[in-house]
Amino acid sequence: MSAKRLILFGPPGAGKGTQAIRLRAELGLAHLATGDMLREAVKNQTPTGKLAQSFMDAGKLVPDDVVIGIIREKLNALAQCAFILDGFPRTIPQAEALDRMLAELGAPIDAVLSIEVPDELLVERGVGRLTCSNCGAVFHERFHPPTKSGVCDVCGASALKKRADDNEETIRGRLRTFHEQTMPLVAYYNEKSLLRRVVGTASPDEVFASLRAASGI
Ligand code: AP5
Repeated sequence: MSAKRLILFGPPGAGKGTQAIRLRAELGLAHLATGDMLREAVKNQTPTGKLAQSFMDAGKLVPDDVVIGIIREKLNALAQCAFILDGFPRTIPQAEALDRMLAELGAPIDAVLSIEVPDELLVERGVGRLTCSNCGAVFHERFHPPTKSGVCDVCGASALKKRADDNEETIRGRLRTFHEQTMPLVAYYNEKSLLRRVVGTASPDEVFASLRAASGI
């Protein structure tokens, strides 16, 4: 049977978003990306967005209670409890809260797929990333350039933009935050025998094949 509940885990720029889009298409699962939800809230200047913005601009994590609340709301709204979590959980309290939510729903995680990439390559990936503000597709100036400069190959909109937090200083801050606050989750999920490690330095197609193999899809 195919996996129904996956966590995509990894540092900023590991390729979680790139791979989540492929897994979503392959498995028909909901894609819940806390970074995308928070950016939308910032764009709309909601109370959550106003609170989150300073943390995101500084490369720090948004407070646990805020992101846990967002995920609880999204999980409760799903017609079927089948999803890919991208960028959540990022701290032990977030992981414990997720465990409690899923226990209530009787829907445990099938696998935590950890995409592993060295820090220096992550900086290069972040600095060159272009994101479509219309459909969310992700490109890279060198590694995955769009066919026509500034235009999204997926939806055709002239909407390729750099994210506000994709400058070298903030990326290095996000990497520090990842090592200090998020890496403890490797041991947390390893102890539960859920962690599957995948080398993330190969091409997106090869990483996708490794993720499929690691999760038994
Ligand atoms: P979020 O949006 O989750 O950012 P992130 O984890 O820093 O991850 P990224 O989106 O930067 O990278 P990715 O792994 O998705 O890589 P991508 O596929 O784009 O979070 C942003 C902020 O929101 C956080 O800093 C925090 O403030 C806040 N936040 C979010 N969730 C939170 C939470 N749970 N708790 C608290 N705060 C939270 O790829 C990157 C680039 O590499 C692209 O250009 C892509 O084309 C390229 N690429 C991808 N794969 C490959 C490959 N195999 N080969 C070559 N290039 C590749």
